Amino acid sequence: MTPEKDTTRHPADPGRRALLGGALSATGGALAGFVGGRATAAEDGAGSAGAAGDAGPRARLDLDELVEPGRRRLLDLPGDAASPEAGASELGRTVVDARGRTQAGVLTSPPAHAAWVAFDLATGDRETLRRVMRIWTDSIDRLTAGRGTLTDTEPELAQLPASLTVTVGWGLGAYLAAGLDDHAPTWLAPLPPMDFDEMNPDYTDGELVLQVCADDLLTVRHAMRQLVEDARDLTLLRWQMSGYRHSAGVSRPGAPMRNLFGQVDGTGNPQAEELADLVHREDGSAAMVVRRVRFLMGTWEAAPQEIREQSIGRTLRTGAPLTGEKESDPLDLGAKGEDGKPVIHQNAHVRLARDGNPRHRFLRRPYNYDDGAGDVGQVFVAFCQDVDEQFVPILERIGSSDLLNEWLVHEGSAVFHVLPGVPVDDSGAYLGSHLLEA
Ligand code: HEM
Repeated sequence: MTPEKDTTRHPADPGRRALLGGALSATGGALAGFVGGRATAAEDGAGSAGAAGDAGPRARLDLDELVEPGRRRLLDLPGDAASPEAGASELGRTVVDARGRTQAGVLTSPPAHAAWVAFDLATGDRETLRRVMRIWTDSIDRLTAGRGTLTDTEPELAQLPASLTVTVGWGLGAYLAAGLDDHAPTWLAPLPPMDFDEMNPDYTDGELVLQVCADDLLTVRHAMRQLVEDARDLTLLRWQMSGYRHSAGVSRPGAPMRNLFGQVDGTGNPQAEELADLVHREDGSAAMVVRRVRFLMGTWEAAPQEIREQSIGRTLRTGAPLTGEKESDPLDLGAKGEDGKPVIHQNAHVRLARDGNPRHRFLRRPYNYDDGAGDVGQVFVAFCQDVDEQFVPILERIGSSDLLNEWLVHEGSAVFHVLPGVPVDDSGAYLGSHLLEA
């Protein structure tokens, strides 16, 4: 995907917002009445959709129920009986509630599709940020519940949420624009430069970010379009990326994904019970690192299997450590072969990515990307409480001498602060209101 830049970064058409005249500018005040509220069917235009039971599709339940119990529910049959949405599967009808102590899309097990868009504020002031946050909060409430946004001319496209989550983060620029410098976490800054960096400004930094994930690409695209339109007059688009993993039901529930090198990717992530102390901060916020990492497929594919497996320290077929049989076997970093050399190479990725310090851990939530013409790789996304304390030490370890670096080029990098969630019962609250209204 070619990122759009500069002040014409939004699509060139005048957009619905312009056509709708003052409708959106009036929402600043009017939105408060909708935030947290469940709009009526008439407002939605797409028919209402109520909750029915707690069960979600089996393919997604395992991790989610452990980590975020009760966040999933099923919509009643959406649309009217004659619409294509009637009779939709559980997968399509699954709602992940947007509201809660934390935002969804962090601990939520990753669905098949994801897109990220980063913005800068059109004018650097608190009121602009406030307006964007109020509008997005309302739109996210609606879209994740299977309803169109206030200005959605195609609300039918919102009817199948398919586990839609939208996660909103602020870069340092948002704090500065709002005069909230003192509230910005100390780690909210560009990551230190690494040897493998070939940073492209088209994929780097940003004052705001949206991460949109769902089990259906149509849902992701529609939601993203609405949210970008919401902020059209208030922001400048900085970069966008999209990614994919296996579709739900295709692989074993809870199984890690395969990346485009064919590696089993996700095995060493913290277990569900460890995540509480590694990802979210006391206020329900979290740190988010996004790296766009291009894969050098030609030379990877030309390398012998043994070299490819040595570079990571795990087998390609099962993801088992080179010292074990099964994916779940522990890494034995001390094991030596008959030649006296370590079985897992001194510079293997898994050895360097684990330094034994229990605080140097974080949640990886990566997606594959394929933007055509050989531009393939991984949108590496990681969540933690403190980037400097948990993430940078590992980045520096792999940055110097990781065998895997032979086939990786880091082309984009951004750090965001994922805001705390919006409380379920507070109709006046919106994303960031704890700071913007203080
Ligand atoms: C985008 C390029 C990357 C690829 C293809 C990649 C691939 C992998 C693979 C296949 C594993 C082994 C299976 C697993 O535990 O998930 C792994 C483990 C890991 N990677 Fe990466 N990785 C990449 C970048 C990074 C970066 C940038 C970091 C952090 C700075 C990182 C941190 C880790 C950690 C912490 C582990 C788990 C190690 C353990 O077993 O404790 N990786 N990675």
